[in-house]
Amino acid sequence: MASLWKTVGIGIGALLVVGLVVGSMTWAILASRSPIIEAPVTEIKPLDWWEHAIIYQIYPRSFQDSDGDGIGDLKGITSRMEHFVETGVDAIWMSPIFESPMIDFGYDISNFYEIHHEYGTMADFEELVAKAHELGIKVLLDYVPNHASTESLYFKNSEARVPGYEDYFVWADPRPNPLNQSDRLVPSNWISQFGGSVWEWSEVRQQFYLHQFAVEQADFNFRHQAVKDEMINIMTFWIKEKGVDGFRVDAIPHLFEAKPDENGIYPDEPLSGNMFLNPDQPGYTTQIHVRDLIELYDVVYEWRDFVDRLKEEMGSNTKILLAEAYANITMTMLYYGNERDREGAHFPFNFDFITSLSASSNARDFAFMINRWLTYMPYGRIANWVFGNHDNNRMPSRFRENMVDGLNALNLMLPGVAVTYQGEEIGMRDGYVSWNDTVDVAACNQGNPDNYLQFSRDPARTPFHWDGTVSAGFSTNTSTWLPVAQDFREINLLSQKIAFRSHYKVYQDLTSLRRESRALSHGLYLIRALSEFTLVLVRHLPTFDTYALVFNVGSVNDTVDLSRVELFAEPLTVVTSSIHATRGRRDTISLDETVTLLPGEALVIRAPPT
Ligand code: NOJ
Ligand code: MG
Repeated sequence: MASLWKTVGIGIGALLVVGLVVGSMTWAILASRSPIIEAPVTEIKPLDWWEHAIIYQIYPRSFQDSDGDGIGDLKGITSRMEHFVETGVDAIWMSPIFESPMIDFGYDISNFYEIHHEYGTMADFEELVAKAHELGIKVLLDYVPNHASTESLYFKNSEARVPGYEDYFVWADPRPNPLNQSDRLVPSNWISQFGGSVWEWSEVRQQFYLHQFAVEQADFNFRHQAVKDEMINIMTFWIKEKGVDGFRVDAIPHLFEAKPDENGIYPDEPLSGNMFLNPDQPGYTTQIHVRDLIELYDVVYEWRDFVDRLKEEMGSNTKILLAEAYANITMTMLYYGNERDREGAHFPFNFDFITSLSASSNARDFAFMINRWLTYMPYGRIANWVFGNHDNNRMPSRFRENMVDGLNALNLMLPGVAVTYQGEEIGMRDGYVSWNDTVDVAACNQGNPDNYLQFSRDPARTPFHWDGTVSAGFSTNTSTWLPVAQDFREINLLSQKIAFRSHYKVYQDLTSLRRESRALSHGLYLIRALSEFTLVLVRHLPTFDTYALVFNVGSVNDTVDLSRVELFAEPLTVVTSSIHATRGRRDTISLDETVTLLPGEALVIRAPPT
């Protein structure tokens, strides 16, 4: 039975399997909405805390300022802890909170064991964790193993060749120029993610060091055992001493780069042939030497062994690792493990809704991309869905604003883990940030007043909109580190709590449904385009209520015939719907009628058990 439920738990798309599963089930008495009936299935595989969790990403600088300096901080997060409970999320992941010169807003860490002074103290952090745990909220940190700030002691020591630190980073001599011996050529043509060469000259050490991101973010040398040991020390500290529940692991595809040949010469990347880019821009070359190197997966698998061992040793709950990897589907899936004998990250983030779907996608594109992830995912693993983060334009700005509820419903109704970026629960859009106010290193490095918005991540990072007061309730200061988006009086949490219908209320409806419904936690899934624009997602578990999302992802009205959805039985009852939907809670839909959906309209429907 247990193994059977494992099969069901991971969801099987084919309907034919339903019959098969039901046929092999034991029958037992079970109370449900209908009077007590003879019904199959009482054994539901218990899920580990993270397997059906909602993970909420906090961008600490922009969540809540507690001391009026215009910068979010830990005390601010702690003061808003009830928001997570009310919203119905299970875990928070905070973008980096460690000591940092803030060149890349915390992704350039100068001390991996300290809290950044603008964010508070270690005592504030301990208080945050205690409060979260008291309320049943798990805490995940952002772990940045690929690089350290050039202000870190690691780097300073390495630059000065302090014994034990010489090889902590990737150091290289200039490439010799046979025509001019005094020329100091960069070791290779590799380009940083933020533009310009990955190689930067150190006057102190008289060598180049490698940085795949900003000049101030030097890449660690993962072929050096002391570095790997230190990475374990850092994770041990935060898990064992500080009680965190896991990590989002930053920039993993970049852990390794190609080695130099026997003469110390690094291989160049081939040119991509993209004529719209200049030689300083990422994409000008095809990155075959600086990302996705197969060696990196062993490191990830070792980290998994390590967190599993720590869990055993501590007798604690599972400590999870979530891999941030923008990679092709094959290299992405390898993060889950090698499918033979090694487990990897609990999951690599699924960025398909960011990288492969947009306002111009139709229902078939949605169905295809969702099924693609579930098809490639190795057996028995947990899926996850990401709709936005601090590196990409916000979800309503990439799609359409009338799609917010439908997209949140997809996130919360698909099998596995839902990831929500702060503000998605209220449909926050990109904030406008002028060139003068722009602070993102990616935009400052590569942009100018005319084109910076194509590089800038600031619009997705503006402060959270709590209410319609000064600085949207984020800070008592009228001046904040990034400007508050102009639409905060129109879109904010307080007004959405008061309104009769709002994105926030839909989000709450969905999180409570997610808690109650066994079809959502354990059911099979069916994802299909009912027409060019209407997507349907059905979650079904025999003897339990079936739940479905019917979502018009197009920008024109669409009329569909719901009797075409297998697994639907009458009566169909609307449980929640997008704020502009014509049908609302408790409305019923007959299978004899056609249903016309407005652009972006989403209906969440309950159908009785079969
Ligand atoms: C990914 C992070 O999400 C991004 O914000 C950062 O700039 C890079 N990794 C480098 O750490
Ligand atoms: Mg502050």
